[in-house]
Amino acid sequence: MPAANAPLASPAPLTPVRSIAVTGGKGGVGKTNLSVNLAASLALLGKRTLLLDADLGLANVDVLLGLSPQNTLADLVSGRCELDDIILEGPAGMLVVPAASGRRHMAELQPAQHVGLVNVFNDLQRQLDVLVVDTAAGITDSVLTFCQAAQDAIVVVCDEPASITDAYALIKVLARERGVDRMQVVANMVRNPAEGRALYDKLARVCERFLGDVSLNFLGAVPHCDWLRMAVQRQQAVATAYPASASARAIAEIARRAARWEPPVAARGNIEFFMDRMIRQGAVA
Ligand SMILES: Nc1ncnc2c1ncn2[C@@H]1O[C@H](COP(=O)(O)OP(=O)(O)OP(=O)(O)O)[C@@H](O)[C@H]1O
Ligand SMILES: [Mg+2]
Repeated sequence: MPAANAPLASPAPLTPVRSIAVTGGKGGVGKTNLSVNLAASLALLGKRTLLLDADLGLANVDVLLGLSPQNTLADLVSGRCELDDIILEGPAGMLVVPAASGRRHMAELQPAQHVGLVNVFNDLQRQLDVLVVDTAAGITDSVLTFCQAAQDAIVVVCDEPASITDAYALIKVLARERGVDRMQVVANMVRNPAEGRALYDKLARVCERFLGDVSLNFLGAVPHCDWLRMAVQRQQAVATAYPASASARAIAEIARRAARWEPPVAARGNIEFFMDRMIRQGAVA
């Protein structure tokens, strides 16, 4: 124990956080399962990881992980508690910010309130390496704002024509309206690796043809996997419940790639998660 009159050690400065939004346009393509398992896999790699459930109206990260939140983002928005009060611990030591389900006003927040939710992360006094953001289906303001505020957006696609057209629509709106010019693509529920690559090529071709200024990168493919479904039934992350399964291994590989992305060195001068940490370390673009 330090002597009573010893000077208090000042806390280590908060280091920059890499933020990754998971999105896709279409509903049911696997955004939430990828978010949960990417976050768990990053935590297993030793990254201090926070998972934000940004599907504000129909939240289900807590359900997938078998968590029972006392408070959610709805309580934060109504001023009943602080961000730190609603954080829960999930598998592999990852932290979770749960949202509420069935609170219609949460699905109908104003654009300024979405910006407010991004900025509230500036107040968080925890050391973190990565923030993973699970977004809702669609191209509503919340989805666009959370993707814009993250350093990387992962677009999840699966082998359905509507998935490719919705992903394209989302990429177009993100590029044209929010200036997002770089996106990662994950193909989900594929029958084999070639199918994943083909799906990416299909999306990349339309983007190249109609949105010349957007660059896409193929981050990986996740196979259709019964172990993942089993984990969903048991309300566990497949990454921790069945780490040897094909889907867990594929997501672990995606996490290894994402873990190599450099932490941000400069604020981009627009809305951004954890902007204060970057500005405080003197790095402004
Ligand atoms: N790789 C996979 N293998 C098998 N089933 C999968 C896989 N990925 C997702 N699923 C199943 O697909 C369904 C939809 O997944 P999920 O909820 O993650 O999608 P979503 O894109 O988040 O949906 P929403 O748009 O409603 O938020 C779930 O029942 C899930 O179990
Ligand atoms: Mg979802």
